[in-house]
Amino acid sequence: MKALIAAGGTGSRLRPLTHTAAKQLIPVANKPIIYYGLEDIVKVGIKEVGIIVGKETADAITREIGDGKRWGINIEYIHQEKPLGLAHCVKVARYFLKDDPFIMYLGDNILASDLTLFTKEFEKSDANSLILLAEVDNPCEFGVVELDDKNQIKRLVEKPKVPPTNFALVGVYLFDENVFKAINGIKPSARNELEITDAIQWLIDNDYKVLPYKVKGWWKDTGKVEDVLEANRFVLSSLKSRKETGVRVDGNSRIEGKIELRQGVEIKNSVIRGPVTIGDKSVIVDSYIGPYTSIYYGCEIRNSEIENSIIMENTRIKDISYRLDNCLIGKEVEISKNELKPHAMNLILGDRSKISLS
Ligand code: DAU
Repeated sequence: MKALIAAGGTGSRLRPLTHTAAKQLIPVANKPIIYYGLEDIVKVGIKEVGIIVGKETADAITREIGDGKRWGINIEYIHQEKPLGLAHCVKVARYFLKDDPFIMYLGDNILASDLTLFTKEFEKSDANSLILLAEVDNPCEFGVVELDDKNQIKRLVEKPKVPPTNFALVGVYLFDENVFKAINGIKPSARNELEITDAIQWLIDNDYKVLPYKVKGWWKDTGKVEDVLEANRFVLSSLKSRKETGVRVDGNSRIEGKIELRQGVEIKNSVIRGPVTIGDKSVIVDSYIGPYTSIYYGCEIRNSEIENSIIMENTRIKDISYRLDNCLIGKEVEISKNELKPHAMNLILGDRSKISLS
């Protein structure tokens, strides 16, 4: 079995972060989102992994992930000229997938289930595809599946205005080579994408067997800021305490709950209340870091309070009198207090930034 990870696209709902970075590389609990899927695939024992990259994501993703040797796998980067849909991803990957069965994993999804549950089920069945379903409160934002009274798939529809059920298609699918026939048989949707949902519907309409599998564990599509923060909370809720080499915590600091301190972290006169993870060489001075916060590497937090947030690498936050809560802050950002008169705010914000002041 091979694997295909879709990591192209534009990440429009996560701008401005995605103006300069791929959404699949935003760190959740200090690990790029795409690593969650990739590591799950490695655990299944799959050795051949194709990653779809687009113009906006190719450089950053190839640089971050490399050739796969560190996981003992081969990675083939497959370039998709434009984000023309998930079925289009499969089509451009044909030369790599050949006629092998494969698992397709959307690079912005995080699934807290062991993938072997699904690969084994697929392999022991005579199905041509296995799809995962999860109950959601907002089905309009997903592919939605309608089941009959025998729990077999009746119909699939992509982002319906009036959803027939609450069962969303999870971004993990298993296929055999018949999916290529399906993709050749479908037309682009109203949003001009070749939809994988339509390809699965084609398989059903043409009497191929598609098995539904209801996922019991947690799952998140990290398409929007609130989803990324929710994923961060979920992953941190099972964090284990860990202190790596070179960590320094002075006697005036208090550490409570589960805290992960990576190499060379320095904490002075601060309170850290877990679950919190702090990346390599970050420095926290005279500050409070509250539950569900992930601070990536090389950050400096001085005289400030932060909780329930993600702070990306090499960011500096200094002397902020309000507590920062529910924030997703990009890399190399600088936030500081203006000591000069007039006491005005000086903002240099990128396109589509969002700030909410109190
Ligand atoms: O997350 C589950 C949902 O994923 C499903 O319920 C939907 O049926 C499915 O269409 C998909 O919807 P999204 O709107 O969330 O897909 P998105 O455009 O965010 O793309 C998912 C991943 O695939 C993301 O990492 C970008 C990548 N991608 C997407 C497209 C459209 C590509 O690599 N190429 C593409 O052409």
